[in-house]
Amino acid sequence: MPIARHAMWQQCATCSHIVSDMAPEIVCPACGGLLDVVHMPSAHSGTTLRRRWESRLRHRTIAGAAAESGVWRYVDVVLPVPLEHVVSHPEGNTPLLFRSRIAEWAEVTNLQIKHEGCNPTGSFKDRGMTVALTQARRIGARGVICASTGNTSSSLASYAAHAGLPAVVLVPSGKVAMGKLAQTLAYGARTFAVDGDFDDCLRLVREASTALGLYVVNSLNPFRIEGQKTIIIELLHQLEWQVPDWIVFPAGNLGNASAFGKALRELYEWGVIDRIPRLAPVQAAGAAPFVASFLDDFRVRHHVTAQTIATAIQIGVPASYERAARAIRETNGRAIAVTDEEILEAKAEIDASGVGCEPASAASIAGVRALQRRGHVRPEDYVVAILTGHMLKDTDILLHPPTEEGTKERAHRPVEIEASVEALTRELALPTLPN
Ligand code: F0G
Repeated sequence: MPIARHAMWQQCATCSHIVSDMAPEIVCPACGGLLDVVHMPSAHSGTTLRRRWESRLRHRTIAGAAAESGVWRYVDVVLPVPLEHVVSHPEGNTPLLFRSRIAEWAEVTNLQIKHEGCNPTGSFKDRGMTVALTQARRIGARGVICASTGNTSSSLASYAAHAGLPAVVLVPSGKVAMGKLAQTLAYGARTFAVDGDFDDCLRLVREASTALGLYVVNSLNPFRIEGQKTIIIELLHQLEWQVPDWIVFPAGNLGNASAFGKALRELYEWGVIDRIPRLAPVQAAGAAPFVASFLDDFRVRHHVTAQTIATAIQIGVPASYERAARAIRETNGRAIAVTDEEILEAKAEIDASGVGCEPASAASIAGVRALQRRGHVRPEDYVVAILTGHMLKDTDILLHPPTEEGTKERAHRPVEIEASVEALTRELALPTLPN
């Protein structure tokens, strides 16, 4: 089946200024507001889209590397370009899991988990990055740049290497998990450890990118958002378009909140779904400016100096604030904060169930329990929680748990033994087997 080609442009969410889809700027040149990619609505109808996506799933009707991708299956509503130009590993096609142990802990019967840590570089960022790097090549960018708490940089470094484009990365010095830093360096990005926090890094990227002539691929970039929409599209496709009551996910810079809101708005407008689930972004209590704004009915845009063990979401000045506020309003959603202690407790359950995730991801499961206990989610509600990153991304907390009083050790320690069967059996406290 041929891929539908249709018009697409960018539009400022603040002043409605129209910008070409080939523009190198990632914010509105007129007012500095955030841009959205707009797809021409008349090209879509719910039944056509569903049927087209289904046939691609069954018969692999798209060509090239993108044929296996859970992002490019939805090319019509992401970035309608010829697929031979796509920079794909591929990515997406992440599993939807049920683990009774995690559901019981979260006190919600029907809790499904979508594990975005199963992407090629171990986080959901790959879904946005395949689109951003495809767009970078499309507009002839000479290099790409991002600020990161570690996962965006790993993903950027990998996709830039694949695209053959130079990559520059700014990370907050000493505040990024070693697994992520190692990945970023190994894939070959020029990496700068900035004396400051993530918010300083992003400010620097925004100030320096034009002078340096580099294309910014933080989630401010509207094409990143287009890719991240497929977390929701693929999830609903897996659920055969049965809409859950809640979708709960960790939030930092609010790219996912924005992407999820846009995906739901579009799917509903085009008739792919007939109901909208409620979105629940979860922030760490020490990095919860969006939750503060939510509680203020979005009258005040709060900023904080962020502090949490979940370094991926240690962000005090979220960039996609307006888009995310719109997503929460439109979905009758609810932002919630959980403590580091709750995050570690949730992570221990997720790890012990054999699923595993990085600390920031565990915020989603901690958030489900908190929403239930505070009476927002009912125990019988149908809830999907997104795990955003792989366990191996951030093992620092497992191998070096915080030792302050009151913080329980949550990982087993290896027991040192000499290389003898006697030592092993003694430690296991098992009787020796008879000869
Ligand atoms: N979970 C993980 C594992 C992340 O790495 C991030 C963000 C988030 C959740 C929050 O997503 O920013 O869309 O609200 N990480 C970025 C980075 C900031 O640089 O890797 P968001």
